[in-house]
Amino acid sequence: MNINKLENWYADHHRKLPFRETKDPYHIWVSEVMLQQTQVETVIPYFERFIKRLPSIHDLAAIEEEKLFSLIQGLGYYRRFKNLHKAAKIVVTQHKGIFPSSFKEVRKLPGIGDYTAGAIMSIAYNKPYNATDGNVIRVLSRLMNINDDMRIDKNKKQITAINQSFIEKANPNIYTQAIMELGALICRPIHPKCKLCPLNSECLAYKNNLQNTLPNLSKKPE
Ligand code: ADE
Ligand code: SF4
Repeated sequence: MNINKLENWYADHHRKLPFRETKDPYHIWVSEVMLQQTQVETVIPYFERFIKRLPSIHDLAAIEEEKLFSLIQGLGYYRRFKNLHKAAKIVVTQHKGIFPSSFKEVRKLPGIGDYTAGAIMSIAYNKPYNATDGNVIRVLSRLMNINDDMRIDKNKKQITAINQSFIEKANPNIYTQAIMELGALICRPIHPKCKLCPLNSECLAYKNNLQNTLPNLSKKPE
């Protein structure tokens, strides 16, 4: 992949979003948890209110669960916020309130899987750990014309390894956000805007007019 083209495209075209104004790992974490199951436009006002009310991880650890739930009421998938609360208490009691900065320690926290740990490591700490979500799977399946079923774990792992090899040659902070932003604005699930895409000259799906049939998500999860 021409990473420079992708990163330059991001510099010129990314949306200004409130969680992109910060490198505070706590704030990045909150945003990624919200964004996992909720659209960006919906997340924005919730994120802003959440951070205003709970600016530090100490504030989150100390809030009553009932008050926390009134803050995120309407976002759905509430188990993620129970885990968020639990993890904040662990950071306060076991890490002196300082958000951990190693992948291993971050990944141990409740509710933080490979994706969220990679997003925090790359976006907040600028470390080369991949964050491979549905956007990234779509972009890379198309770019490299990979027709394997992406609901199968082994195939998803292969894309994750490719994404890891790219981030190791990139500016991690920019790369993670750039590939997600490309997936959100250009390499969209339907009607991808290939003519405007910074990677169109190397994209194997575009070359073969397969951008509308990839990624392959045909099989039900195992
Ligand atoms: N979806 C998940 N993480 C995101 C981010 N950092 N920016 C935009 N959309 C996202
Ligand atoms: Fe996606 Fe089209 Fe760009 Fe290929 S050329 S990466 S299919 S937007």
